[in-house]
Amino acid sequence: MIIAVDGPTASGKGTIAKALAAHFGLPHLDTGLLYRAVGRQVSLNGGDPDSEKDALAACQFPDDLLADPELRTEVSGGLASRVSIHPKVRSALFERQRQFATQPGGAVLDGRDIGTVIAPEADVKLFVIASVERRAERRFAELRDSGRDVMLEAIAADLAARDERDTNRKDSPLIAAPDAVTIDTSDMPRDEAVAHAIAIVEDRMRR
Ligand code: DC
Repeated sequence: MIIAVDGPTASGKGTIAKALAAHFGLPHLDTGLLYRAVGRQVSLNGGDPDSEKDALAACQFPDDLLADPELRTEVSGGLASRVSIHPKVRSALFERQRQFATQPGGAVLDGRDIGTVIAPEADVKLFVIASVERRAERRFAELRDSGRDVMLEAIAADLAARDERDTNRKDSPLIAAPDAVTIDTSDMPRDEAVAHAIAIVEDRMRR
């Protein structure tokens, strides 16, 4: 069974994807981490994330970079969004994601284009959304709890800029697949959102 979980930053898609993987005993891939690693590697190379050539060279990042805590920062998220607009970067990362999705037994992947490009044949497609305000509050709380000095307004502006870039890029934009089920987590506590997602998957499995 392949489960595709797409949606914007801080919508709760990662939490839902991880919980589904644990519940159904499936491996999970956070595909945003791959783009974050490319963004970080461009920086380490002293390159320009807006240059397709520099971003493509950074797709050769070493695997241990995926464990770098720096990838979780807002700076890496912004760099990831910038490198992800280059079609050559997307195709360089395609095979790795495709192999993960089609491994025997199935998998859960979360990202922006899983249900549309990476695994259009996925058995279940979820599109997780939430208002910019709620997403900014969540990200703000996360960052503040980890001891960072952050401003809510700056986070909201950053999220809106990333949404704009991810949704309007030409290649594989953030968009719900026609057969995706949308979950709006704006007013849903974490456990409720997870239970709702599990119920959707179970319903699909019964059909
Ligand atoms: O999910 P995330 O915030 O870690 O993703 C970081 C960026 O990577 C996101 O702004 C756009 C890009 N991305 C993408 O283009 N396609 C994916 N499947 C996952 C992430």
